[in-house]
Amino acid sequence: MNHEEVGRFWNANADAWTKLSRAGYDVYRDYLNTPAFFAMLPDVDGLSGLDIGCGEGHNTRLLARRRAMVTAIDISEVFIAHAKQAEEPEPLGIEYRVASAVELPFAGATFDFATAFMSLMDIPETDRALAESHRVLKPGGFLQFSITHPCFDTPHRRNLRDENRLTYAIEVGDYFRNLEGEITEWLFGAAPPEAKQGLSKFKTPRFTRTVSQWLNLLIETGFQLERIEEPRPSDETVRDCPDMQDAQVVAYFLHIRARKP
Ligand SMILES: C[S@@+](CC[C@H](N)C(=O)[O-])C[C@H]1O[C@@H](n2cnc3c(N)ncnc32)[C@H](O)[C@@H]1O
Repeated sequence: MNHEEVGRFWNANADAWTKLSRAGYDVYRDYLNTPAFFAMLPDVDGLSGLDIGCGEGHNTRLLARRRAMVTAIDISEVFIAHAKQAEEPEPLGIEYRVASAVELPFAGATFDFATAFMSLMDIPETDRALAESHRVLKPGGFLQFSITHPCFDTPHRRNLRDENRLTYAIEVGDYFRNLEGEITEWLFGAAPPEAKQGLSKFKTPRFTRTVSQWLNLLIETGFQLERIEEPRPSDETVRDCPDMQDAQVVAYFLHIRARKP
C-alpha cells in the first residue's frame, strides 16, 4: 500500500472523524496529546510553520493562535474542505492545501518549523516523509511530531484488567513485525452509541516501526534529536475522563522534536 492508497482511506474517514472529533470525542487528542505537544513546543510567535497531515485543522488553528504563520497540508481533500470551512467564520490566516507529506509542494528551506500531530505513523513511506519535512525546513528549523508509541502500539496488544475493569498492564507482542497497511476498523471509544449512530467505522491502515527505526531514520535524514516526551494523563484528567486510565499504565504516545542543523 502506498501513500495515495492510504489517502483514499483517510478521505473516506474524514466526514465522520470531523463530526466526532468536533463533538469532543477525540479525548486522547484533547486531554492528553494536544496539551502535551503545545507544552513542549518552542515559541513560534512570528515563525512560518508547516502542519503536516492537519486533518480538520484543530491543532493547526491552535498553532495559528500562537501567532505562527501557518500553512497546512493533508492528503485528504475532505479533511481540507472541513478545515477551510472552519477558517471562514474566524480567519486565522492559515493556508490549507491538499498534498502528500511524501511529495511536499514547497521549495527547500521554506519554513522555520514543521509539526505533524499523529500523522507520520499513518504514512507507509516513513523515510520519504521525514526527508521531505527536512528538505522544506530552513537550516536551524525544527520538526516536532507525535505518533502512537512504537513499544505499546504493537501488532499484538491486549489490555489486562483487574476485577474493577481497571487496566493494570498491557500485553504487547510482535514488536519487530512491521505492519504495512493492515486495516483497523474503529470509532472513538468515548463517543456514545447515539453519536455513532449511522456512521461507518473508520478504516485506518496501520504501519508500525520500532523505536530504533524511527530514531535512526531521523538521524540518517540529518536531524538532531532535541526533545522526547511520553505524555501521560494526570489523576485529575482520569477522574474527568475515566476511559483514559489505561494511558497511565504505559506510554501510548511518543512526542519528538528534532532540528535541522
Ligand atoms: C490521526 S489523523 C490526525 C489529524 C490531525 N493532525 C489531528 O491531530 O487531529 C492523521 C491524518 O494524516 C493524514 N494523512 C495520512 N497520510 C498522509 C499523507 N501521505 N500526507 C498528508 N497527510 C496524510 C490523514 O488524512 C489524517 O488527516
